[in-house]
Amino acid sequence: MRRAAGKVILLGEHAVVYGAPAIAAGIDRGATAHATLVAPGETSRLCLPHETVVADARGADERGRALAALLLEGARLPPLSVEPLSELPLAAGLGSSAAVGVAIARAALAAAGRPEPDDEVMTRATAWERIFHGNPSGIDTAAATLGGCLRFTRKDGPTPLRLARGLVLCIGLSGTSASTRVMVEGLARLRALEPERVDRDIATIAALADDAARAIEAGEPAKLGALMDRNHEVLAGLMLSTGPLDELCAAARGAGALGAKLTGKGGGGAMVALCRSDAGAEPLLEAFRARGYDGFVTRVEAARSRLLDTP
Ligand code: PMV
Repeated sequence: MRRAAGKVILLGEHAVVYGAPAIAAGIDRGATAHATLVAPGETSRLCLPHETVVADARGADERGRALAALLLEGARLPPLSVEPLSELPLAAGLGSSAAVGVAIARAALAAAGRPEPDDEVMTRATAWERIFHGNPSGIDTAAATLGGCLRFTRKDGPTPLRLARGLVLCIGLSGTSASTRVMVEGLARLRALEPERVDRDIATIAALADDAARAIEAGEPAKLGALMDRNHEVLAGLMLSTGPLDELCAAARGAGALGAKLTGKGGGGAMVALCRSDAGAEPLLEAFRARGYDGFVTRVEAARSRLLDTP
């Protein structure tokens, strides 16, 4: 059995696709996978609760294509049967598909008796993600593999952030989902129509993300919260928010959050709010419940990055 983290993007989603930096954190809720070898000559397969999907690079089922892509990326793996399980709502911006991909990559390597280096796990899981999302930046698979809090760019990959203090985050679920591919393609279309405005917004988000990295490392939560608020405004201006996401963000701020924004692709799914303290999280959850939304609290500890553990 292997695990991978879910994630929240604290700042920089969408802009990261165009090369801007983004800040992500792994969260406790994630995914697991169990893999076993099957007889040589058999086809690798995904065993899901109600169906079995075979790995097929040219098949009609994108889950089968994704498994084939993951297994074919890099050194060949023997045929496997894989059982994934996600603890995250699907297509909600919390990195469910990346967490599943990372857990499968680890479980497949383990079943094959191979080491599970983070680089190979990320590469295989990004191949899996590409089938579902077309043009993933790789931030989801990096956060799912490494956990902790990280700055990510397409060019440089993940860099760990040294948190001066832990972050208490409250996740609100708008109850709807959206396709990452559709949302990313929607922004690409808007950019084709209005390149100057969209590129200006991407540059603004890039600057906010870099300021946020500094605020995280300096232990300035009020500043981080204000940067998250500003990031949400820019994302909303790019048509990536929804009424329920705006409502959740406003409810979080009204209940004492230091900042709040949509997280991930937007168009539905989740938002993230930065709480003042552990005790500050409960009023946010109550505010969400009072409006008919679900949520949960997650913490990013100051001393918990696997990246930081490596010399
Ligand atoms: O799939 P989601 O909701 O976790 O969004 C991923 C973040 C995006 O920046 C929108 C896309 C990407 O590949 O970075």
